[in-house]
Amino acid sequence: MSAAPGILLRDICKTYRSRGSEVVALKDMNLVCPPGSFTALIGPSGCGKSTAMRIALGLEDHDSGEVRIAGQAPATATASGITGVAFQDAALLPWRTVARNIALPLEVLGRDPGRYAHEIAKLIELVGLKGYEQSLPGQLSGGMRQRVSIARSLITSPEVLFMDEPFGALDQIRRRQMNVELQRIWQETGSTALLVTHGIDEAVFLADYVVVMHANPGRVVEVIEVPFPRPRSDDLYSAPEFHALTDRIAKVLHGH
Ligand SMILES: Nc1ncnc2c1ncn2[C@@H]1O[C@H](COP(=O)(O)OP(=O)(O)OP(=O)(O)O)[C@@H](O)[C@H]1O
Ligand SMILES: [Mg+2]
Repeated sequence: MSAAPGILLRDICKTYRSRGSEVVALKDMNLVCPPGSFTALIGPSGCGKSTAMRIALGLEDHDSGEVRIAGQAPATATASGITGVAFQDAALLPWRTVARNIALPLEVLGRDPGRYAHEIAKLIELVGLKGYEQSLPGQLSGGMRQRVSIARSLITSPEVLFMDEPFGALDQIRRRQMNVELQRIWQETGSTALLVTHGIDEAVFLADYVVVMHANPGRVVEVIEVPFPRPRSDDLYSAPEFHALTDRIAKVLHGH
């Protein structure tokens, strides 16, 4: 693992231009995620969270500023399997079974999925989909598809893990279970994680740093450090200091 920040975005500007209209999605966006840290990115709809993530993945160009992923150019990091990603809309291939969707990043990297049967089975169990290995995405619920997407993002043991609202379709109970699981997986892998979420609870439960963005133009307004020791358990959700911190973040988020 390199000593460079897992994720570095420096003074990123991004304007979307289409016939006659311009949207300034990001203006001087800054984000530094130390190696092995967990960062949650939170902000109102349209503030540029997904844009920032796509730029960090090399899926979108930016107008100015610097991007490094584990010290490398984003496209290089993505192409070499340093990055793993789980998107908002699970984005599974409908004609592939659960197991073969999870194996996809291996094939993209030119690895033989047959050698990863054990890892695939372990991840399927981890996300609670044992028995569904041979199911097609169309036979699953939205929440189940999201869990496949999370398993897929982890199959290459990525050094940097990007997650864009991966738990959006889950009910609160399953979501909290997944948060505990995700924390455990992240601690085991030692990866640098960036999670986009609308849930302040989820952000505080999981993250070392909660980064709050505002819109128009999209930018970071505050970085809040989360001091709670790990591993964090479900009990944390009912602790007074947990609520004090989520209240503080809600104020920053809503600009009070
Ligand atoms: N491909 C695009 N073309 C034009 N404008 C875009 C494009 N993608 C995003 N935008 C605009 O850029 C801004 C930021 O969008 P983005 O998707 O990054 O927001 P977000 O913070 O992820 O929102 P949400 O929480 O709803 O997912 C929005 O105003 C959006 O309309
Ligand atoms: Mg988004």
